Amino acid sequence: MQLKLLLLFAVSLCLDAVPLSSTRTKKHNKLLLISFDGFRWDYDQDVHTPNMDQLVLEGVKAKYITPPMITMTSPSHFTTITGRWIEDHGVVHNMMFNSTSLLKLTHKNTLKRSEWWDNGALPLWITAQNQGLKTASYFYPGGGANYSGQVVNMSLVEAEGHPDDNETEWRQKIDTVMSWYTEENFDFVTLYYGEPDNVGHKVGPETEERRKIIAQIDRLLGYLRESIQRNNLTDHLNVIITSDHGMTTIKKKPEVKEIKLSEYMNFLTLTHFDILDYGGFGMIRPRKGKVQEVYDKLKNAHPNLTVYKKEEIPEHFHIAKNSRIQDIVLIGDLGFNLNSRIIFYVNKGDHGFSNEEMDMKAIFRAFGPDFRKNFLAEPFDSVSIYPLMCKLLGVAPAPNNGSLSDTQAMLVDDSDPGGHVGRIQTSVGLLIVMMFIAFLH
Ligand SMILES: *[C@@H]1O[C@H](CO)[C@@H](O)[C@H](O)[C@H]1NC(C)=O
Ligand SMILES: *[C@@H]1O[C@H](CO)[C@@H](O)[C@H](O)[C@H]1NC(C)=O
Ligand SMILES: *[C@@H]1O[C@H](CO)[C@@H](O)[C@H](O)[C@H]1NC(C)=O
Ligand SMILES: *[C@@H]1O[C@H](CO)[C@@H](O)[C@H](O)[C@H]1NC(C)=O
Ligand SMILES: *[C@@H]1O[C@H](CO)[C@@H](O)[C@H](O)[C@H]1NC(C)=O
Ligand SMILES: *[C@@H]1O[C@H](CO)[C@@H](O)[C@H](O)[C@H]1NC(C)=O
Ligand SMILES: *[C@@H]1O[C@H](CO)[C@@H](O)[C@H](O)[C@H]1NC(C)=O
Ligand SMILES: [Zn+2]
Repeated sequence: MQLKLLLLFAVSLCLDAVPLSSTRTKKHNKLLLISFDGFRWDYDQDVHTPNMDQLVLEGVKAKYITPPMITMTSPSHFTTITGRWIEDHGVVHNMMFNSTSLLKLTHKNTLKRSEWWDNGALPLWITAQNQGLKTASYFYPGGGANYSGQVVNMSLVEAEGHPDDNETEWRQKIDTVMSWYTEENFDFVTLYYGEPDNVGHKVGPETEERRKIIAQIDRLLGYLRESIQRNNLTDHLNVIITSDHGMTTIKKKPEVKEIKLSEYMNFLTLTHFDILDYGGFGMIRPRKGKVQEVYDKLKNAHPNLTVYKKEEIPEHFHIAKNSRIQDIVLIGDLGFNLNSRIIFYVNKGDHGFSNEEMDMKAIFRAFGPDFRKNFLAEPFDSVSIYPLMCKLLGVAPAPNNGSLSDTQAMLVDDSDPGGHVGRIQTSVGLLIVMMFIAFLH
């Protein structure tokens, strides 16, 4: 009788384990992705940041992460939310443009233009929604577009002229996001802040003003922690804090000879379209039949300028395959802005330079129930944040270019997604042992 009961018990354990493999029964925690635009990997090292220091003890810190080549806001944010290289997702610049019609729209004006964002790579919001989750975007680039006709369930889009550094408003955004989790049961929210990018451009990264903004961000992260506790989300919410690129001081004369392309070529006769005067990355569409001439004129024009014909772009940049990439691509050495006709450029700091430069690297921090504590992760490509987010949410990823092996070690349970395999094996093992005992009797 006892043995039969034992057998029954073991069999039921087995049956119990089976449904776990076929349905999404494991309760996944909620996820918050916060991006601070232009938060260089080392910005916390020359400022007193007690809250960020505490988060290091309570969670994960990567030494730094490498953004995709084209270290700009929209391209890089879209790589994070899709897990795709830029040539695959097609958001190749902050500006929306058409090199035939010569249309150009500034960054803020692209935010609701689906035709700029929706090129076939589905962002995580949509993939998660299609698998039954509820998602929201608060100012995150790309959150305001439609993808294959679908919208993000809740999306707030940053308006033109929105202040970047209002600390009261920063906290209100946290309050709103907390209420989305507690009152409306959202599973995944992306939250974007325009600092420290704004101050980095305006006064440069190596300044007191930048350090002040980092201290302000640190206070915000203290407020975030308190808010999570106050809302009883500590055991249910994972948080990833990251950025899209770094920042470097722009080199000016007389320290260097600035790059001014009109010194080497005639824009009027040689070019049809260009996107320049925007930091370290630029593109030119020459007039018909003028590609070689533009290339020859610029190739050795300035020691701190690298020029590629589209077909020469190194494959590991992962940008060349896209039709929005123009015939000629220009990259300035660190700190050299690409000026076109005249130098009207006023920024003290900028980005867009090679993602191999340390000044272009970004931060990565994470904490919450699924993350290890006091864990220092090796550097990785930001494209791998995507599979990590999918695993945390229990979402089957769309095709992507990231690898979970880059980020998996950060997790408390770093086994295969699903986590049920072990349980089935244990139950089967138990069943065999019990049958053996029964046999002996
Ligand atoms: C770009 O503009 C040209 C000329 O107006 C137009 O024919 C083409 O469809 C546009 N391309 C895109 C992708 O909108
Ligand atoms: C998205 O699609 C909806 C209809 O489903 C439409 O009302 C809205 O204007 C579209 N938004 C954008 C940014 O294209
Ligand atoms: C969220 O959006 C998806 C489409 O992507 C839709 O099917 C679902 O009903 C929406 N959920 C809510 C709660 O609005
Ligand atoms: C900052 O934001 C708060 C809340 O939105 C607002 O009341 C206040 O006027 C803003 N301050 C400035 C200087 O814009
Ligand atoms: C958090 O939990 C405490 C204690 O159970 C409870 O009093 C409080 O109302 C909860 N707060 C929220 C926002 O759910
Ligand atoms: C600019 O070019 C000069 C000459 O090749 C080189 O010595 C210098 O290191 C370059 N500057 C940067 C920031 O790469
Ligand atoms: C990136 O992922 C897409 C989708 O799986 C794939 O088509 C593409 O070849 C990948 N790119 C690289 C460089 O592996
Ligand atoms: Zn910027």
